[in-house]
Amino acid sequence: MSNEDPATPKLWGGRFTEQTDEFVERFTASVSFDARLYRHDIMGSIAHARMLAHSGVLAQGESDTIVDGLEQIRREVAAGEFVWSVALEDVHMNIEARLIELIGDVGKKLHTGRSRNDQIATDIRLYLRDEIDGLLALMGELRGALLDLAEQHAATLMPGFTHLQAAQPVTFGHHLLAWHEMLARDAERLTDCRRRTNVMPLGAAALAGTTFPIDRAFTARELGFEYIAENSLDAVSDRDFAIEFCATASIAMMHLSRWSEELVLWTSQQFRFIELPDRFCTGSSIMPQKKNPDVPELIRGKSARVFGHTMSLLALMKSQPLAYNRDNQEDKEPLFDSVDTLRDCLTAMLGMLPNIIVNAEAMRSAALAGFTTATDLADYLVRRGVAFRDAHEAVGQAVAFAIANELSLDQLELDQLKQFSSLIEDDVFKVLELEGSVAARDHLGGTAPDQVRAAVKRARANL
Ligand code: ARG
Repeated sequence: MSNEDPATPKLWGGRFTEQTDEFVERFTASVSFDARLYRHDIMGSIAHARMLAHSGVLAQGESDTIVDGLEQIRREVAAGEFVWSVALEDVHMNIEARLIELIGDVGKKLHTGRSRNDQIATDIRLYLRDEIDGLLALMGELRGALLDLAEQHAATLMPGFTHLQAAQPVTFGHHLLAWHEMLARDAERLTDCRRRTNVMPLGAAALAGTTFPIDRAFTARELGFEYIAENSLDAVSDRDFAIEFCATASIAMMHLSRWSEELVLWTSQQFRFIELPDRFCTGSSIMPQKKNPDVPELIRGKSARVFGHTMSLLALMKSQPLAYNRDNQEDKEPLFDSVDTLRDCLTAMLGMLPNIIVNAEAMRSAALAGFTTATDLADYLVRRGVAFRDAHEAVGQAVAFAIANELSLDQLELDQLKQFSSLIEDDVFKVLELEGSVAARDHLGGTAPDQVRAAVKRARANL
């Protein structure tokens, strides 16, 4: 990036009699972060130039020359040969100045019937639409990975928790399918956000539209926009789509953070449910024995910045009168960082999850430890005619007895169990086993292995 030449003429310099203050030049410049929009900026300019020829505002030859010049600039940037200048402020004027340098005076005609206000609004929408497509593809892959893992562990037993206390046995596959449901809703929200992003502002010009006979439908077709912004004032100032994206990304990050929290817990010595592959962990510089789950910890940590970006964008917009204000330049960094963070965290999960090492033994013994089949015993008594509240009381007493004797429920003798209800027979032991407990929850949305397999099948069909 160069800002050495203070005498770079401004494309808007006509009415000014002194040069821009050097500090102000740096303070107002956005090229350091909006240069990443170059492909979308050029795409928008090419569509605009073609439309101007189509509408008879430019001669076909002029438009062709402009398009060739823009394509050359695109190659220069991609090859790393383009010199960005802070004095030229932003991505738009850097490219336009280079165009004029390359093709001469005809380059000065590109900006006919257009403003940077509708140009930047178009650029971010094109950029975000592409990024959403990439994120949706990643989410689809991650959903596939979760479904594979869930199917593999359809019958692997673990404790289900409430209040982080062992509650009832579930299958690991069922737990993974809960994650899958969250991610499926995230993808749905993102798809919905894409619709409201895919709206073309071009033609709004600075705020009121343009006096030239533009053909907005033509430009929209060139750029693959599904909708055309209905109101020029709204078109240049609306950033709801960016706020909506960050809110959607925040919810998705909140989900990834919850999974991460569970991964961190599960890898601990206290749980030992899973192990992460070494390549996703780091060690301690002082404690030689440590293998730390840094990747899930960082996903959990990075969720915070995306939540913050949502708040930044809301605050950015809340006091803006119509139409465009320079405040809007501050929309880019939060948006870009939200996109980058969500993409990185999805990528990390996708690398990690299919490679976790599952310790089914540890999961099973944890499920046995916490009297997790107590509800099954209560349900057993209900099936023999006891009211649920009375069954609850009787089983509570049985649990207290087992705790006092340091036994699990299925280690009690039939006679010992009968103290709490004479209706208990020796078929009770089937009910007290983990396998029987999960298999009995055999309905849509339940944890029975067959239900998990059926849910995987349904989810795959929807993917
Ligand atoms: N860099 C500006 C932005 O990001 C582009 C539009 C500037 N328009 C203007 N009239 N100053 O919003």
